[in-house]
Amino acid sequence: MQPIRVLKGKRILLGITGSIACYKAVDLASKLTQAGAEVDVILTESAVRFVSPLSFRSVTGRPAYTDLWDLSDHVRHVGLGETADLMLIAPATANTIAKLAAGMADNLLTVTALAARCPLILAPAMDGGMWDHPATQANVQVLQNRGVMLAGPAAGRMASGLEGMGRMVEPQELLGHARLALSRGGPMAGRSVVVTAGPTREPIDPVRFLTNRSTGKQGIAVAQAALDAGASVTLIAGPICEEIPFGADVVRVETVEEMAQAVLTNVEAADALFMVAAVADFRPVTVAERKIKKSDNSEEGMELSLMKTTDILMAVKEQRQSSRFPRVVLGFAAETHNAADYGHEKLLRKGLDFIAINDVTVEGAGFAVDTNRVLLLGPNGVIEEIPLRSKSAVAERLIHHVAEVLNADKGHTA
Ligand code: CTP
Repeated sequence: MQPIRVLKGKRILLGITGSIACYKAVDLASKLTQAGAEVDVILTESAVRFVSPLSFRSVTGRPAYTDLWDLSDHVRHVGLGETADLMLIAPATANTIAKLAAGMADNLLTVTALAARCPLILAPAMDGGMWDHPATQANVQVLQNRGVMLAGPAAGRMASGLEGMGRMVEPQELLGHARLALSRGGPMAGRSVVVTAGPTREPIDPVRFLTNRSTGKQGIAVAQAALDAGASVTLIAGPICEEIPFGADVVRVETVEEMAQAVLTNVEAADALFMVAAVADFRPVTVAERKIKKSDNSEEGMELSLMKTTDILMAVKEQRQSSRFPRVVLGFAAETHNAADYGHEKLLRKGLDFIAINDVTVEGAGFAVDTNRVLLLGPNGVIEEIPLRSKSAVAERLIHHVAEVLNADKGHTA
């Protein structure tokens, strides 16, 4: 796993309570550590019955704490609590949730939770009946009202063999929750961002369509970087297989028309639009209702008549003239020649604040690869030449520049 910038060097307190889901917490501790976090683990007595502190020490490379009465741990709760950036209790049993709701502090974990001033995420794990019980529900409500964040629980098969709500969510998803919690207060906190990603598909008949080579990697990276900067993100995605970043609201579309509608609706109150999608410029004039048969056409072949699609950015430009939203618009230009000139012309024609130009003929800078090289232009010329880097690193630079414009615009705070 790659290090994750928002997790790098962050101190995370991982509390483990007594549930069979403890075994998943070892994987979670490992993932958080690999992402660059410093993970201090506290296990309750019951948790130690399920999993050994040694397992956590082995994956985090740091001590795992258990005993409140160990003299060397005397002021541990204060120290751990004060220096943590985030506390995550996973799994969190009904018992520990009840104690936290009541403000009880009878073991190192609950004492530390009470002393900590950082955000707290709970990942409940219990039998469905215990989760549904009014006592648990009331305790969860109390904690949420205090600002505690809840990750799950998920529905599925329990250790008891019953199906229901109460399974701890998977470590990968918990990593997403931690990432999101640590992004709060970033340079885009409170901002809403719309990102488009991937190709579009224009149908020819029920089995065929026109599309392009885009895989959505750069759009996904921009959405993730915006989330990491604290923004709320709506991702308008064409047909892509890439994993959607945790925390993004997704709108799935296929055609240019669907994407245009989704963009125009979602930018109505948005701070920024990142138009990363490789939108089709042409679509068939007519879409055959039934599969086009070879026998329907001459021996030589068939002709396909195409017409221009809606230019989404031009439509946004028009809507923006009256609504003033989105405040900042960034377009992309994938070019094969005269990249800077074509890019600059597009920026002016489409009324953009930024255009990220990439020459798709450069090795490692086109479709379906994890890297990109981008020339970022503003209306007054070059803003930054971003050398060949990961698409995530390129996305971070784009977010940086857009955040700078939004944050300089004090008269228009979100
Ligand atoms: N774009 C759009 N609507 C379209 C086509 C493109 O909003 N129908 C957006 C893209 O998402 C991108 C920018 O416009 O952000 C530039 O796309 P590009 O295809 O490079 O530009 P075109 O205007 O289509 O010009 P050309 O294909 O002639 O280079």
